[in-house]
Amino acid sequence: MELVRVILVLVVAVADAAAAAGVRVGLTRIHSEPGITASQFVRDALRRDMRRSARFGRELAASVGTVSAATRKDLPNGGEYIMTLAIGTPPLAYPAIADTGSDLIWTQCAPCGKQCFKQPGPLYNPSSSPTFGVLPCNSSLNLCAALLAGASPPPGCSCKYNQTYGTGWTAGVQGSETFTFGSTPADQVRVPGIAFGCSNASSDDWNGSAGLVGLGRGSLSLVSQLGAGMFSYCLTPFQDTNSTSTLLLGPSAALNGTGVKSTPFVPSPSKAPMNTYYYLNLTGISVGTEALSIPPNTFSLQTDGTGGLIIDSGTTITSLVDAAYKKVRAAVQSLVTLPVTDGSGATGLDLCFALPPSSSSSTPPATLPSMTLHFDGADMVLPVENYMILDSGMWCLAMRSQTDGELSTLGNYQQQNLHVLYDVHKETLSFAPAQCTTL
Ligand SMILES: *[C@@H]1O[C@H](CO)[C@@H](O)[C@H](O)[C@H]1NC(C)=O
Ligand SMILES: *[C@@H]1O[C@H](CO)[C@@H](O)[C@H](O)[C@H]1NC(C)=O
Ligand SMILES: *[C@@H]1O[C@H](CO)[C@@H](O)[C@H](O)[C@H]1NC(C)=O
Ligand SMILES: *[C@@H]1O[C@H](CO)[C@@H](O)[C@H](O)[C@H]1NC(C)=O
Ligand SMILES: *[C@@H]1O[C@H](CO)[C@@H](O)[C@H](O)[C@H]1NC(C)=O
Ligand SMILES: *[C@@H]1O[C@H](CO)[C@@H](O)[C@H](O)[C@H]1NC(C)=O
Ligand SMILES: *[C@@H]1O[C@H](CO)[C@@H](O)[C@H](O)[C@H]1NC(C)=O
Repeated sequence: MELVRVILVLVVAVADAAAAAGVRVGLTRIHSEPGITASQFVRDALRRDMRRSARFGRELAASVGTVSAATRKDLPNGGEYIMTLAIGTPPLAYPAIADTGSDLIWTQCAPCGKQCFKQPGPLYNPSSSPTFGVLPCNSSLNLCAALLAGASPPPGCSCKYNQTYGTGWTAGVQGSETFTFGSTPADQVRVPGIAFGCSNASSDDWNGSAGLVGLGRGSLSLVSQLGAGMFSYCLTPFQDTNSTSTLLLGPSAALNGTGVKSTPFVPSPSKAPMNTYYYLNLTGISVGTEALSIPPNTFSLQTDGTGGLIIDSGTTITSLVDAAYKKVRAAVQSLVTLPVTDGSGATGLDLCFALPPSSSSSTPPATLPSMTLHFDGADMVLPVENYMILDSGMWCLAMRSQTDGELSTLGNYQQQNLHVLYDVHKETLSFAPAQCTTL
């Protein structure tokens, strides 16, 4: 009950800020340094992605026992977006991956010796921040609460977690801190009592960031803890390495313009980690005016929690179950007259065309129609630059095949220049084409 109160206070804190508008945060893409080639970027993204299989399971260990639950998150994969937020008193800014496919907010905490990765900027040291506290074991946000099975926590109890993602893990103790959000002083909001992971050991897969911010459906995510109700982002084009994308939390995230389409989220399975994910009802795909012959239940979420399609900011390249991927691949191939080339070594992608030697590295070599993802009640139109990727000498389909029956993922490459709103109260995803550099 105490936590409900804290959350209500947080809602007031957020509403107060920036004249009741909410929080605005800049996002930059990992690997967005000028000079990185598209193929390098995609290869990194996919290599990280493919390492997900062996690393299942979130393990929690408290003084009272251990539990495990599976996680299938493929993250990070090289094309994630980094947001800057600040932790503690005085606020220490740190870059973190913004991930709609998980919940835990975490950063590295000093002291952490050899098992910490090298992060940009200084380490947060809880012992020098008066607003730090260990998260009480009976807090409803405590990952170990289930282990207590209702019993009162032993004195001095703290929850040690080891959160495993598709491509790495992070371990530490759950704490509570004051966080500061916002890109500019006018936007800044300080929110006390945010539960977070104070990691002192991690795999080395997280470089470019100092942690992660979960924006998933669970109670530990930033969206849930702020009681923000909604958030939106607008991702600038991949080729644009100079501009900053935007993440909006709270009422200012609303999409007001024309051309806004909305589709309901499919209720998530109650099991972790699927309960974190935002599932969408994808009923078909068209390339140009041709509706591909994909059976309508191809992306259905099964009662055992398998299958389905999620939207994820923490994955780059969209994966489609093979039955659908094959149709997309064939349709694209039938429309392009350039010779097919094996680009898998350079990019990891499975359909690439060789560019004529004279072609420019920034202009698509042929016209291709847009691709439409038919969601329940809302068509998402992907212009060619959202599904093809151009690199020195090659033009490739920026999608991959997923094993039939597994989870499909709508990645961030496909969401460029779309303003995407997750309304967690209304349980809808809305989107509209946008020039994200001007948002
Ligand atoms: C947690 O335990 C402490 C001490 O036992 C108690 O004061 C507090 O009210 C409890 N909080 C919750 C949310 O149960
Ligand atoms: C966390 O879990 C991963 C994967 O199971 C394991 O490799 C790693 O050693 C664990 N880390 C800690 C600190 O327990
Ligand atoms: C991390 O902190 C936990 C809990 O305090 C401790 O048991 C563990 O030894 C620490 N690990 C490292 C690598 O410092
Ligand atoms: C990330 O880590 C890899 C391997 O550990 C290293 O080669 C690369 O330079 C690091 N990148 C950054 C930005 O630190
Ligand atoms: C990015 O900014 C730099 C410096 O301001 C400029 O030289 C460069 O042309 C810009 N690149 C793009 C793609 O706009
Ligand atoms: C949409 O309208 C709301 C309420 O009028 C406003 O706070 C918000 O800034 C607008 N959103 C955008 C993206 O312009
Ligand atoms: C998905 O959308 C289709 C078409 O609107 C509808 O018939 C079906 O019931 C929806 N499925 C779910 C799980 O919402």
